[in-house]
Amino acid sequence: MVQPKIAPSMLSSDFANLASEAERMIRCGADWLHMDIMDGHFVPNLTIGAPVIESLRKHTQAYLDCHLMVTNPIDYVEPFGKAGASGFTFHVEVSKDNWQELVQKIKSKGMKPGVSLKPGTPVEEVFPLLEGENPVEMVLVMTVEPGFGGQKFMPEMMDKVRVLRKKYPSLDIEVDGGLGPSTIDLAASAGANCIVAGSSVFGAPDPAHVISLLYKSVEN
Ligand code: DX5
Ligand code: ZN
Repeated sequence: MVQPKIAPSMLSSDFANLASEAERMIRCGADWLHMDIMDGHFVPNLTIGAPVIESLRKHTQAYLDCHLMVTNPIDYVEPFGKAGASGFTFHVEVSKDNWQELVQKIKSKGMKPGVSLKPGTPVEEVFPLLEGENPVEMVLVMTVEPGFGGQKFMPEMMDKVRVLRKKYPSLDIEVDGGLGPSTIDLAASAGANCIVAGSSVFGAPDPAHVISLLYKSVEN
């Protein structure tokens, strides 16, 4: 069976204190740390790049789940591999022509390859990436338009999760955007096992409690 993974989105953390924020999340029970990489082109926001991952890596052993909202993911594989990223999830919308090369390169740098899709992208578009010799190992279903934290969860995206779970019983399926105690049951019952949560965790008086609620919902 697939393992629950709770991944606080560090986009909602205090970037000026990233190392201590990461440590705090791990202490609160986080399994992964979700790192949102935005290039100001694929999405209308700009965040962090490989140098920040490299700095953070010196302070934590945690699994760094990197979500690349960038137009040219292939250019980032080598720097992210060197920086110590654990997972490298790219967007299908910008990788239709070179995903095979991309997946191979990600694996050769020792990272776990994942593919993400925006709300307007049909789930069928990731099927080819899950077949053949070199498949991706995770699908990240966006449940908001990528670019910003704190948006409203789109429940209609759960159809994509259900279709994927039925077709791929042991696949890691991640959901990202608007997840928290009030939306987690919809995602968990659809079959998501990796849960990204930014504002609901960082905005809570007791983040450990929120993380445990998310975990329990996925586990059941
Ligand atoms: C949005 C990012 C998300 C975001 C989630 O583009 O991919 O990871 O930080 O934040 P919340 O949980 O606040 O919706
Ligand atoms: Zn993300």
